[in-house]
Amino acid sequence: MSSNILLKLFLLISLLNLSSATTKLTQNDQPLKFQYHNGPLLTGKISINLIWYGKFNVSQRAIISNFINSIFTPIKAQPSVATWWKIIETYYHLTKTPIVTLTMGSQILDQNYSLGKSLTNDQIIKLASKGPQQNSINVVLTSADVAVDKFCTSKCGTHGSSVGKQKSKNFAYVWVGNSETQCPGQCAWPFHQPIYGPQGPPLVAPNNDVGLDGMVINVASLLAATVTNPFGNGYFQGPKEAPLEAGSTCTGVFGEGAYPGYAGNVLVDRKSGASYNANGVNGKKFLLPALYDPTTSKCSTLV
Ligand SMILES: *[C@@H]1O[C@H](CO)[C@@H](O)[C@H](O)[C@H]1NC(C)=O
Ligand SMILES: *[C@@H]1O[C@H](CO)[C@@H](O)[C@H](O)[C@H]1NC(C)=O
Repeated sequence: MSSNILLKLFLLISLLNLSSATTKLTQNDQPLKFQYHNGPLLTGKISINLIWYGKFNVSQRAIISNFINSIFTPIKAQPSVATWWKIIETYYHLTKTPIVTLTMGSQILDQNYSLGKSLTNDQIIKLASKGPQQNSINVVLTSADVAVDKFCTSKCGTHGSSVGKQKSKNFAYVWVGNSETQCPGQCAWPFHQPIYGPQGPPLVAPNNDVGLDGMVINVASLLAATVTNPFGNGYFQGPKEAPLEAGSTCTGVFGEGAYPGYAGNVLVDRKSGASYNANGVNGKKFLLPALYDPTTSKCSTLV
């Protein structure tokens, strides 16, 4: 390729970046091959159950449960969490699958660290199985003083499914850890200075809790992945073992104009100075990750 063509290509890429500011830089360098792999999506009525492992106080638990309740509770104030979740419906329309309807299930507290303070992935699944095992997504939330295999080295959370011998024992699970003391720059960005990459001032967390507001971002992204790729053969791009899914494809994008190290043009609460992009129930505000829109092949943001 001659340098002239390269230059033109570079200019074209720059223009593309300007015109579709909400997509990540890399998406223009290399078009996404985000595909449906013909497996089932989660469908019908599914309850979300929260399993709190370790120390979380009442206000911390309220941040997550208010977020979950906001997913399926339409409110007047826009943009809202319920509107954010709407993008998920496009996945169901494309595959002609009846949409999933989420509800709030039960909450289980394990404040005494029944399996210790250092957990393996198998132990996470064991904790998840304490929730109801039918039509459920069991969300395990580990406190800041709990180490989990690969937490902070390569992961902020995971999702998967436990398929037992009896069909009635099948459930999906999500795990997310509180990264506040272990790696907030990695798992609670943009509320903390990033460990790698461009440095910018951290944003003020919408619920004034860097760890928990960071957990909301990861729970949000993993719930989107859980319903659209529950068994590893739904929607994703890249290798099955390390897939980029509905949420993780758009990591780091929260508003229009995002680029690596900059979360995008999000809203700022005048009183508290907190950054957010979604309103929720009980007057709560959240900063939610962009989700991949399979109909436009772009990361879709609320603002
Ligand atoms: C709960 O913990 C958070 C984070 O440590 C703290 O900011 C908050 O004040 C605590 N709330 C209560 C009710 O104890
Ligand atoms: C938690 O552990 C403490 C200390 O080992 C014990 O005294 C307490 O009864 C335990 N609480 C529960 C709910 O198991």
